Amino acid sequence: MTLASREIIFDEFLQRVCPPRDLDWRKYRRASRRNVLRRIYQLGLGGFSEYADYIDSHPLEAAFLPNLLNVTVSRFFREKELWDHLAADVLPAMAAAHPASRPLQVLHIGCCNGEEPYSMALLWKNEIEPVFLRTSISITALDIDQACLDRASKGWYPRKTLREVPVELQRKWFEPEMEGFRLHKRIRHMVNFTKLDLLKDHLPGKQDMVFCRYLVFTYFQGKRRREMARKISECINPEGLLILGRKESIEPQEQDLFTPVSQNLKIYKNER
Ligand SMILES: C[S@@+](CC[C@H](N)C(=O)[O-])C[C@H]1O[C@@H](n2cnc3c(N)ncnc32)[C@H](O)[C@@H]1O
Repeated sequence: MTLASREIIFDEFLQRVCPPRDLDWRKYRRASRRNVLRRIYQLGLGGFSEYADYIDSHPLEAAFLPNLLNVTVSRFFREKELWDHLAADVLPAMAAAHPASRPLQVLHIGCCNGEEPYSMALLWKNEIEPVFLRTSISITALDIDQACLDRASKGWYPRKTLREVPVELQRKWFEPEMEGFRLHKRIRHMVNFTKLDLLKDHLPGKQDMVFCRYLVFTYFQGKRRREMARKISECINPEGLLILGRKESIEPQEQDLFTPVSQNLKIYKNER
């Protein structure tokens, strides 16, 4: 069987199992197929079609499906223009207006191996902290995948995930180790990592800024997406910010929750 025909068969499987569960089948690729094949093997089933029947008749398997298809890809300063804008405009304005009595609360939902929250920690340490000495930051990062969180805590990264890190930051905060780089523990200690399933668990509240990039607004649709968008809105302070990925958008039915601050960079204000 050719690679192309294997892709088509996997697509047919996704088209059957995803839409009834409010998942966008077009977004899942090769890594998801590997996970599904491993699961089919574990269950001793004959292939995609038999597994689709199994999902239909086993509610627990259906509930597990989003985790099985889960995509874990990230990199430091992903979509660099966003981070440049946060450093130059958004964070200085927030830090200046923020009371010294409590830290600015930043939450990363679906933090993968830590690349995104550590980008925020690096940016804060280098650009904001030296200027706004009285304002502090508290960064919390959540993911459903324990293996991701373990990698995040270790803080070791292959070279390719660092390709958007400015050279001076790389020299200052990353130590070459084996074939990659280890992030300095002063930056690692700035982020609190927690295992959390967004679909089931409560989110920590009173956030000033929430990153939810390439999770809810890419993979979820319909009721699942609406419920998660509302849940996220409820954990953000009034006027707090939501940051999405460049390829994501707030849809018309979510405009009562979030309004654009920068349409281009996908920064939204909480409307609650
Ligand atoms: C594609 S990665 C995006 C990483 C990062 N936000 C970025 O944009 O670079 C999606 C992350 O969401 C996590 N995730 C998926 N489902 C989740 C859930 N129900 N609760 C919490 N995290 C979840 C995955 O484990 C993965 O690390």
